[in-house]
Amino acid sequence: MSYKSLHFYEIENAIEDSLEEVLRGLIGKQKMIPPKYFYDEVGSNLFVGITEQPEYYLTRTEVDIFRCYLLEIVEEIGTNCLLIEYGSGNSEKIRVLLESLRPCAYVPLDISKQYLATAARSLAKEYPWLQIHAICLDFTDEFELPFSLNAKRVGFFPGSSIGNFSRLEAANFLGRVRRLVGEDGGMLIGVDLKKDPIILRQAYNDAKGITRAFNLNVLNHINKKFRADFDINKFEHLAEYQRENGCVAMYLSSIENQKVNMGGSEISLACGEQIHTENSHKYSVDEFASMARESGFSNQKVWTDSNTWFGIFYLS
Ligand SMILES: C[S@@+](CC[C@H](N)C(=O)[O-])C[C@H]1O[C@@H](n2cnc3c(N)ncnc32)[C@H](O)[C@@H]1O
Repeated sequence: MSYKSLHFYEIENAIEDSLEEVLRGLIGKQKMIPPKYFYDEVGSNLFVGITEQPEYYLTRTEVDIFRCYLLEIVEEIGTNCLLIEYGSGNSEKIRVLLESLRPCAYVPLDISKQYLATAARSLAKEYPWLQIHAICLDFTDEFELPFSLNAKRVGFFPGSSIGNFSRLEAANFLGRVRRLVGEDGGMLIGVDLKKDPIILRQAYNDAKGITRAFNLNVLNHINKKFRADFDINKFEHLAEYQRENGCVAMYLSSIENQKVNMGGSEISLACGEQIHTENSHKYSVDEFASMARESGFSNQKVWTDSNTWFGIFYLS
């Protein structure tokens, strides 16, 4: 698909809608669903709803830091780079940087195909000067860009999505980005920092119940994708800060003994049994800087808000 300066690619083999992968997660001792299944179109829209909740300080704080330190950030990165956004969603945050950063091309990467296509089209209309190469893929796999453009590569990974990885996975992910951007490249990344657990608890349990709806929607998505019959009314949303792991863990707790069918297999859940759906790890500035160093990014620059709730790092 081509739309003026917009190109669309799909790295097919990276997107295995793997029934087996999901089944494996649901028959283990601690049941789990990989968080990438949150993001069908409904889930992507619910996520935008979450970012608008007063308790969800992350998006607001991150965007404020971008606005406040825009010139310094642009000076660090330099104009004319090839800007690659991991998990671009509605491509909202990049809008804060685009006019100043003036990249030679923008490469949004996302697993949610329709959502990516719609977001890329509306960005192309709004920024006619911008060359866009949208790629639908799973960014947890190693990949190469399906086009060639000779420019400094800079990864962009806002929203503290890095927190969804375990510490080991996060280090491996940073290593993969480091390989993709090469010797001269860099990465601009938003990281949620450690703070009062009460603030964290509220952020993932908003009063309007949008995070609850987002969490439950993963079951609807699994139902559609894998012919399953989860009844979302039989589950409860749980999100708690686990101090020992430094992360907010999200679960769906079964409110009764039940059996669920999925692609011809039966899954049993006891009353109170929990399906783990997401982790959001929180870092101190030093913890994250040292992980980045170990992953091959020897230089780090960091900007934070006045409460030190959120950090934006430029790694190179
Ligand atoms: C939490 S949202 C963040 C959106 C936006 N970057 C922001 O900061 O507001 C995560 C985005 O990453 C995408 N995503 C999640 N897991 C992915 C994966 N494994 N590969 C590619 N995209 C993924 C989702 O579809 C979603 O758009």
